[in-house]
Amino acid sequence: MTCPRHTRVAIVGAGPAGLLLARLLHLSGIECVVLESRDRAYVERRQRAGILEQGTVDTLRAAEVAGRLDREAVPHDGIELRFDGRRHRVDFPTLTGGRRVWVYAQTEVVKDLIALQLKEGPPLYFDAPVHAVAGADTDRCTVHYTHEGQDRTLTCDYVVGCDGHHGVVRRALPAGATRVHERTWPYSWLGILADAPPVYEELIYAHSERGFALASMRSARVSRLYLQVPNGEDPAAWPDGRIWDELDRRLGAGPRWRLERGPISAKSVLPMRSSVTEPMRHGRILLAGDAAHIVPPAGAKGLNLAAGDVTVLATAFAGLYGSGSGELLEAYSDTCLRRVWQAERFSAFMTTTLHTAPGASSFDARLQVAQLDRIATSPHAAAELAHNYTGLALS
Ligand code: APR
Ligand code: PHB
Repeated sequence: MTCPRHTRVAIVGAGPAGLLLARLLHLSGIECVVLESRDRAYVERRQRAGILEQGTVDTLRAAEVAGRLDREAVPHDGIELRFDGRRHRVDFPTLTGGRRVWVYAQTEVVKDLIALQLKEGPPLYFDAPVHAVAGADTDRCTVHYTHEGQDRTLTCDYVVGCDGHHGVVRRALPAGATRVHERTWPYSWLGILADAPPVYEELIYAHSERGFALASMRSARVSRLYLQVPNGEDPAAWPDGRIWDELDRRLGAGPRWRLERGPISAKSVLPMRSSVTEPMRHGRILLAGDAAHIVPPAGAKGLNLAAGDVTVLATAFAGLYGSGSGELLEAYSDTCLRRVWQAERFSAFMTTTLHTAPGASSFDARLQVAQLDRIATSPHAAAELAHNYTGLALS
């Protein structure tokens, strides 16, 4: 296969950030190439979250990749909070003036983007790991990668690292060019996919002294469920029966309340971290999505932040290559970081409000319940949650 030797924008990573950026650049007539280290099946199988904000859906529609999403995604107008033996529904449209979210798994977004890109371009190479990136401070960058057993080189005007939290692009930036702010959380999630109908028609976020639980869904027959577990937990310590019993206890809305059980098809432990790299650009190298920032999953913000970054970036490149103005590109990092820090704040709020930290006292637990009670009784507190969950409109 002949791979291009030069392009305008080299995109490292074919997760949602890289794929959506490539699609938006393609629609603006800007040449780019996507290099992905894994194979297509792996990328399409990877299980991630599944909540899309209105802004993300709007971007996917504008990118003309929302056909299946518009048929299959399920709009959700609220979430349920369970705490202290109570149930409280947060209604998004009434609290936010009509905003809602969509349940459509990230892996489906990725499949839709890959299918379209392989059909219409731009070039997308799987099994093409990037091992080095150079030239941030020059007028041309070089990307070194391997494909079909050969070492290859791609030169470009800009490199965008969409290569996730463990990617190579961020590490290629000169020492001192960026600063990382981060927090490791003292608990993880055990996540399962089960062939069982969703617990309830909306997502349930449950606080309990036994730890947090979340009931989400993938379809009318498939549930996605999470339990807070200690860091370093071995999934093997959680046979299926133990998982269902614990979900019953933590999600329980009454003494005889039980989930409908089904075969568990996937089980894994997900550590939690908050991290932001600032700035998100150095010279000709830019970062987007998880490569620049990660959030703990309780706020459902990861994919939406990635979509936000690449929307800003695609508009900035369109300004540069269309009218020759680099102004938006100069502002890229600052523009994105405002939204990123708001999402970090909200994700940390959801995390600390809903989880039971190791060594937490009864005082800590009562404060969490008081916070949740405030959301249940104050429209202002509920509206604050609803605005953040459905996506802040930042001007
Ligand atoms: N060369 C090429 N590709 C690479 C390299 C490399 N050296 N290193 C990593 N990659 C690829 C990974 O295989 C992966 O497919 O980069 C991609 C990064 O994709 P994601 O991790 O999905 O990150 P992003 O596109 O930013 O999406 C953010 O994903 O982690 C979730 O919750 C997060 O929903 C959010 C979303
Ligand atoms: C999911 O469906 O995987 C999911 C939903 C909401 C979250 C996190 C994960 O906050």
